[in-house]
Amino acid sequence: MNDFSNPSVSARGAFWAPFTPMRQFQQQPMMFASADGMHYTTTDGRRVLDAMAGLWCVNAGHGQPKIVEAIREAAGRLDFVSSFKMSHPQALEMAERLIDISPAGMEQVFFTNSGSEAVDTALKIARAYHQARGDCRRTKFIGRAKGYHGMGFGGLSVSGIGRQKRDFGPLLGEVSHLPLPYDAGMRFSVGQPQQGASYADALTQLLDIQDPSTVAAVIVEPVTGSGGVYAPPQGYLQRLREICTRHGVLLIFDEVITGFGRVGAPFAAQAFGVLPDLITTAKGLTNGAVPMGGVLVSGAVYEAFMAGPQNVIELMHGYTYSAHPLACAAGLATLEVHRELGINQHVNAVSGLWQSTALALQGIGAVLDVRAIGLLCAVELEPRPGFPGARGSEVAQWCFDNGVLVRGSGDTIVISPPLVISPQEIAQVFETLATALKHVA
Ligand SMILES: Cc1ncc(COP(=O)(O)O)c(C=O)c1O
Repeated sequence: MNDFSNPSVSARGAFWAPFTPMRQFQQQPMMFASADGMHYTTTDGRRVLDAMAGLWCVNAGHGQPKIVEAIREAAGRLDFVSSFKMSHPQALEMAERLIDISPAGMEQVFFTNSGSEAVDTALKIARAYHQARGDCRRTKFIGRAKGYHGMGFGGLSVSGIGRQKRDFGPLLGEVSHLPLPYDAGMRFSVGQPQQGASYADALTQLLDIQDPSTVAAVIVEPVTGSGGVYAPPQGYLQRLREICTRHGVLLIFDEVITGFGRVGAPFAAQAFGVLPDLITTAKGLTNGAVPMGGVLVSGAVYEAFMAGPQNVIELMHGYTYSAHPLACAAGLATLEVHRELGINQHVNAVSGLWQSTALALQGIGAVLDVRAIGLLCAVELEPRPGFPGARGSEVAQWCFDNGVLVRGSGDTIVISPPLVISPQEIAQVFETLATALKHVA
């Protein structure tokens, strides 16, 4: 048996970690043994406040007893059943409950096992929707600068982070990108910037260049997440919606991060009052406890698939573990926990404090910008000349050594805590970060 309390044993050898400099990791592995509520415990027994919610996913806090128990119960009752031409009651219930909390107009759910699969599924549904309606020329996609849509070839193609694509081409052809709706004038503006809706007009220009009748879908994160937490300017998403509708182009919101309370509503679509045609979700869907993703599909899109002969598969797509019994059990329990804890209400109650405390970092050390919305925050640092990323990773390491886990993404510190964070814990996160910023030159 592995000795998991000994980091040198468990980190060495066969394990190839995702998005990780392996040789550094093997020398200095960051290892966790357990988690509860807002905290991790490291393998050497230190308690660390998890200001990342795992990886933007443990929205209701770690080890929620109802979720743990639901997974246990499901594992003992029905370990697996395929979703190809069959299913199980909790899958149907999970889909219903999800639609109950989704924006009006969303009527079907297609389950996947991750956000990446959800994105690739949404892109395929978009193309197949146009095919089903006889509009076969609509095959192009439009993404956005700094967008992150997972690591499948589809999601990577529409993503807007060049470094992540560099080693893997050729990707999908016929993908173009909107600019990020952000400029230096928006620095230190928390919530939705008041100016900047006109960035959406770039979509009209792109459609003109591409020929709008050849474009299948536009995909954006309502709030850019991994790319550095950029909130949409007021009116921007509404304008994207109008332009898509005018040209018969589907609008996909990638809500893998923004779903499940992160911006104070079940989905950002509700928080911002804009209805897309498809919504991708994952992460918080099961509180990160069992891998699961899904695509919420509008009634109009779904109906377009239902016109052919009844014995024919309408969408030739799926995964072995779609609607896995353990994931459905975890998802149903997660929805219950969200309701019981009033998570959206809590986010709305503390997000003002979150944003003002974050903004107080202005002027400290190398802070170039602070962006915060809901319970998301990015603190962008000026890169150290000649050593891009060094300052960010040193700040993140300092925080970790001093009891707070944040994410260093290049020179940007990203914070997305469990949504049950208390005012005291908010203070701890930002006090630790402020001290780190003063220590790290
Ligand atoms: C917006 C967005 N889409 C898709 C993904 C991919 O999800 P996964 O890592 O579960 O495949 C992520 C992951 O961070 C994400 O933030």
